[in-house]
Amino acid sequence: MKHRDLFFKASSKVPGWTRGEEAHALFETAYDLPDRATVVEIGSFLGCGSILLGGARKMKGSGEAHCVDRFDGSGDAFSTPHYHAIWLALGARPFREIFDENIADAGLSDWISVHDGDAELIGRRWSKPIDMLFLDGDQSPEGVRAVYDAWSPWLKNGAVIALHNSAPREYEQHHDGHYILARKEIRAPSYEDIRLVGSTTFARKAVQKAAQKVAAPKRPRADRRRRSGHRKS
Ligand SMILES: C[S@@+](CC[C@H](N)C(=O)[O-])C[C@H]1O[C@@H](n2cnc3c(N)ncnc32)[C@H](O)[C@@H]1O
Repeated sequence: MKHRDLFFKASSKVPGWTRGEEAHALFETAYDLPDRATVVEIGSFLGCGSILLGGARKMKGSGEAHCVDRFDGSGDAFSTPHYHAIWLALGARPFREIFDENIADAGLSDWISVHDGDAELIGRRWSKPIDMLFLDGDQSPEGVRAVYDAWSPWLKNGAVIALHNSAPREYEQHHDGHYILARKEIRAPSYEDIRLVGSTTFARKAVQKAAQKVAAPKRPRADRRRRSGHRKS
């Protein structure tokens, strides 16, 4: 089996929400980043997406995936019962223990850094430019906005942002945060190469042009005539 297939297989065994064409697009996008790329995943749960991001960087041979999660099953009101049901089915062991085990089984412990805590607070203390940001934490409009405001300033020019669960559809109440963000923020001229794969919106942060010189305002015609000595008869 090819290396990338091993990562797809490892990811597919972990309960989670990054599957099929979205999993492939996430992996290939992380793989195509420059050398020593910094990848950040907000909302890692048990490592389904983390394995794809870390696996891509391992296969490329440089860089790192940073995985941010509270590892306590908390989140928006719609999602938490789903997290809880999965956790119970897995024997109610600590989320972090299961995550670490999944990452180790995929051979990725050296390619993933874990940031255990609230995504907004960790983002406010962050200090490293980012090549790819995968948003998949709290899915409520307020939760998504708080995380975007904390993390997006760290996106490099040309960096990729990926918003899970952001396709146009009928959403459950307060579960449409990424969809709203995609509509409001992920658009030209701030972002380019915008595309939807499954439920994930991918986009590239547009290169910020240097501030243009502001031209001096033109004087009104009459004023110009007066200064040049021209008089109406
Ligand atoms: C949808 S799951 C992530 C799924 C995962 N990315 C995948 O590929 O399957 C969302 C995760 O984000 C966590 N989470 C929700 N709100 C958070 C917050 N404010 N800070 C940190 N983690 C949070 C949840 O506890 C959960 O583990």
